[in-house]
Amino acid sequence: MIKVAPSILSADYVNLQPDIEMVDKAGAEVLHIDIMDGNFVPALSYGPGWVKAIRPITKMVLDVHMMVQNPERYVEDFAKAGADIIGVHVEATPHIHRALQMIQNAGVTPEVVINPGTPVSAIEPVLDMVGQVLVMTVNPGFGGQKFLHSTVAKIAELDAIKKAKGYDFDIEVDGGVNDQTVVDCANAGATVAVAGSYVFNADDPVSRINAVKDATK
Ligand code: DX5
Ligand code: ZN
Repeated sequence: MIKVAPSILSADYVNLQPDIEMVDKAGAEVLHIDIMDGNFVPALSYGPGWVKAIRPITKMVLDVHMMVQNPERYVEDFAKAGADIIGVHVEATPHIHRALQMIQNAGVTPEVVINPGTPVSAIEPVLDMVGQVLVMTVNPGFGGQKFLHSTVAKIAELDAIKKAKGYDFDIEVDGGVNDQTVVDCANAGATVAVAGSYVFNADDPVSRINAVKDATK
């Protein structure tokens, strides 16, 4: 069964604590926190202060997805704020190896992220350094977009490399994930599913978390 990572991008910011406690109680293992810098992606979201504020209210794994140009600038801040996983886009820095090293040195699990237009070969040299690979299944920047099915082949490609080389990183998918689209992702080897609008833009978010899990039993 896949692990579920609700994305607070679609949560109620005024009632963030109740929303987080609800998904925690519902059995979500990971909380996905989308950092947007208005540069790598057009939107602005939130910074390390939010991670620091969220840290004491949940034991869920805090998964910080940095949609930030030159993420090296902020790795320390997010580590200090209490992130468990920090994800950096290979497209956002000429120094992906150094960025992942910085995350590792800060005592946080390093994650590398690839956009839909980026091939798996672009991250192959750093796969031995990461605890998680995030395969974007939409172009990053906004919640509520349509799942891009062409990304599924990359999940399978990563899973094959993982098995061939004996790596044990998680494979996370992000964007347009629901109880339908998650099935092919899980079959291809995804182990963590981010879900934003599917969970939070629903009358019963708890049943949506269960639906994603049940679809991958
Ligand atoms: C998109 C973000 C996602 C977003 C997913 O750029 O990285 O984490 O919150 O939202 P949904 O699940 O609605 O596509
Ligand atoms: Zn994300």
